[in-house]
Amino acid sequence: MTLLVPLQPAVIAIDGPGASGKSTVAFRLAERIDYLFFDTGVLYRAVTWAALERSIVIGDEAAVTELTRTLAIDVAAPSSDTADGRHCTVLVDGRDVTWLIRTPQVDQHVSTVSAYTEVRQILSDQQRRIGARYGSGQGDRAGVVMVGRDIGTVVMPDAALKIYMVASAEERARRRYLEQTERGRAVSYAEILQDLLRRDQLDSERVVAPLRPAEDAFVIDTSQLAPDEVVQRIIDLATKRVAKTPAFG
Ligand code: DC
Repeated sequence: MTLLVPLQPAVIAIDGPGASGKSTVAFRLAERIDYLFFDTGVLYRAVTWAALERSIVIGDEAAVTELTRTLAIDVAAPSSDTADGRHCTVLVDGRDVTWLIRTPQVDQHVSTVSAYTEVRQILSDQQRRIGARYGSGQGDRAGVVMVGRDIGTVVMPDAALKIYMVASAEERARRRYLEQTERGRAVSYAEILQDLLRRDQLDSERVVAPLRPAEDAFVIDTSQLAPDEVVQRIIDLATKRVAKTPAFG
């Protein structure tokens, strides 16, 4: 589709708690405006998966940090032979771990890993490099939609547009439950809700880059909205912003 006002190369930051709809919305938004979709949570998940795989104790910060330094994580657009609903392909040292990083075991430990200062520094630097390249028009797409917890506050504080998505805990747990059962996993709604609340608390109370909206973020409550309605709201905000400031981006 053609936008009334064309978007300049830019970074759109989308933050918010787990299962608030960020990834679904950001993926559709990126497709519509021909931006790269970059879900930064996959980096924290990839490190967590690799630590578990190598029997590294998750509580051993030094060992997990060392692992993060040496790990080669690649994120690529899905190819035609991997059309299994994925939004991107995640490789760790060349191995496709796209679905392995979505298990309840990784869910359970990823908040601990993402609270480690140096792990965050290493992974934030990787995110910043990609953000800077696409945000300045040097990527293979017009810009980048970056999804995470601290994109608008820490990773890309100069992002052209910042969105903070929220939804009630019950609605988020319902979405996660459906996601898991659609993949044939036997899970309990009550446990998912409990785990989401636990992770919300860990993500918002951690000392480094806690989960919170940037001061200049637009907060969107997605509890009652379909993904395409949220996408349209973001496009409206981006379009208004371009109309107001020619220097958008
Ligand atoms: O969005 P997600 O559930 O895939 O994120 C996995 C974990 O990584 C979650 O505990 C929050 C953390 N995370 C983070 O701290 N900073 C980011 N930019 C992205 C994710």
